[in-house]
Amino acid sequence: MENLISLVNKIQRACTALGDYGEESTLPTLWDALPAIAVVGGQSSGKSSVLESVVGKDFLPRGSGIVTRRPLVLQLHKIDEGREDEGREYAEFLHLPRKRFTDFAAVRQEISDETDRETGRSKQISSVPIHLSIYSPNVVNLTLIDLPGLTKVAVEGQPDSIVHDIENMVRSFIEKPNCIILAISPANQDLATSDAIKISREVDPRGERTFGVLTKIDLMDKGTDAVDILEGKSYKLQFPWIGVVNRSQADINKSVDMIAARRREREYFSNSPEYKHLSHRMGSEHLGKMLSKHLETVIKSRIPGLQSLISKTIAELESELSRLGKPIASDAGGKLYMIMEICRCFDQIFKEHLDGIRPGGDKV
Ligand code: GDP
Ligand code: NA
Ligand code: MG
Repeated sequence: MENLISLVNKIQRACTALGDYGEESTLPTLWDALPAIAVVGGQSSGKSSVLESVVGKDFLPRGSGIVTRRPLVLQLHKIDEGREDEGREYAEFLHLPRKRFTDFAAVRQEISDETDRETGRSKQISSVPIHLSIYSPNVVNLTLIDLPGLTKVAVEGQPDSIVHDIENMVRSFIEKPNCIILAISPANQDLATSDAIKISREVDPRGERTFGVLTKIDLMDKGTDAVDILEGKSYKLQFPWIGVVNRSQADINKSVDMIAARRREREYFSNSPEYKHLSHRMGSEHLGKMLSKHLETVIKSRIPGLQSLISKTIAELESELSRLGKPIASDAGGKLYMIMEICRCFDQIFKEHLDGIRPGGDKV
């Protein structure tokens, strides 16, 4: 099953590399057909922190105020333990091909520099995504999207339109029916005011692709707890709510590492009288497992659809190519030809995978 997710990651990467917003091909549709997971929520609700703990790596810029100012499309690729580069994790940006980052602090710096390159060093936002891939034996295969936080007012240096601009940008990602939404709400604010719940309910009214994540449980007022929310009594979603305890700003300043943070998170839930009974389904590790499982189910159900989409793309490209006439000299023709070759290759892989999931097949 892991191969299947990895295959989808490869397709997304190929489509992106070929210019996913290209006008002349049907590839944007193909990209749209593949599932991804996006984090949404108010500013500083803990979105970047949640993504980091799903990945198990420190690499995202985090902090108070508007830190994430461009969408970050993050593909996690699990590499074999047994491979020659065993234990070696690295990251690659689409805008810096062939440059391998092994220092994740440098990855964070590059995200922040690349954000500034597009938006200037202001508090402006841009909807042009940054594409980052992480290769590691310690991740599950997932595509995640970090988004700027929803906000209620423009701050100094921002145009008044920013509130709606961010909302529209976020909506453009999460309204796609195949986007899995991680709706991040901080436990130290009233759930009724949650921006995450508000916008995800708008695009997914029945909560069929929304995972409710409650952050900052450690920061709740004394005498209050999140049990009603976590048990689904306050706001019911199809999937059970997951509570997490991310690192605080003080932890970040002290460079508390991920492993220590996870251990502390586990201890937090299993040692607290309120949450003990829920501890088996709380925390970042559990969240990662749930997401991976859900993604597998979605991909499996989509393979036949993807396959016909690819066949359609091939047919369209073939007619486009014959319209251009052979031999193809122009750049456009050359690019189309390359895309078609890649689609053919995928088509073959799909056929193999599809065999595996037909009733009676036991590959998955
Ligand atoms: P984003 O703006 O939604 O991406 O939020 P960040 O991940 O950047 O987090 C904003 C701030 O809240 C940072 O200082 C984090 O350290 C802090 N934070 C996030 N989650 C938690 C949590 O569960 N507990 C505590 N104590 N602090 C958190
Ligand atoms: Na923030
Ligand atoms: Mg952020």
